[in-house]
Amino acid sequence: MRNSQIPVATLSDDSASTGRQLFFVSPEALDRSWELGLFYLKIPDDLDLECPRQFGRELVAADSPHRQVPQYGELEGFIALENNQQTKLALRRERWDQHYPEHIALFGRQLDAIGIAIICAVFRQSGIPEALWDRASGGYASGGGDAFLNFVHYDTRTPDWGLRPHTDYGFVTILDASAPGLQIEVDGQFEDVPVLPGHFIINFGEALSFITAHADRAVSAVTHRVVSQRSLDPVRHSIVYFANPELDGMLWQFDASGEEQGSSSVEDLFTLLEKRLTQ
Ligand SMILES: [Fe+2]
Repeated sequence: MRNSQIPVATLSDDSASTGRQLFFVSPEALDRSWELGLFYLKIPDDLDLECPRQFGRELVAADSPHRQVPQYGELEGFIALENNQQTKLALRRERWDQHYPEHIALFGRQLDAIGIAIICAVFRQSGIPEALWDRASGGYASGGGDAFLNFVHYDTRTPDWGLRPHTDYGFVTILDASAPGLQIEVDGQFEDVPVLPGHFIINFGEALSFITAHADRAVSAVTHRVVSQRSLDPVRHSIVYFANPELDGMLWQFDASGEEQGSSSVEDLFTLLEKRLTQ
């Protein structure tokens, strides 16, 4: 896919009254992003990425103290799976202060603000009345919900197929990747999403697609994969932030007049998606 086909958005400066607003160069660029489920976001000037990137690179060292972070369930902690090139330190918001250095926890909160700005832009376009945004998103739109901040690298000593095709379960994913490898499915074909320097890759997930399904404008959850990294490639580092609903919460579907059109427990929705993925 040519770079030019993936739209680019920018965020306005923080404003106390409205928060950050998301802008595209044209209405067509916004349409394309909502339809693709993906766009580039110019990294805001007030966000320091060098320190978090350095933190991620340091995790490769065998003696990094952060490799000792214990695993909490399947999704959190320092995780290196067999038959998977992906090695990661993954933590949800509640554990950032415990295990991440202060500047990384702060960086996570800056990504929270970006995630909220994006989800609010989606709600604004959807026509769903603002009073319902918090309920529809299980609290995420107003600073609650669940969020993960993960530092990932691909260890090429382990051969495998990278990350198999999937959609993300949550609302919004913010990705900072150091090297190519991400591909998205467009009209049945996988196409490269090149790294665009100075930009995050943003993609929409299933929970956001679900809650906008009956509104004026729904978003797509994009199917994507990460291709296996070759041993000659430099180590692929990425920082990934997932904006998610709380696992024990509910999601609500509203239309633009504020009428409830459906709902699901987060657990039921995720179980359904899991089934679809493993079929
Ligand atoms: Fe993903």
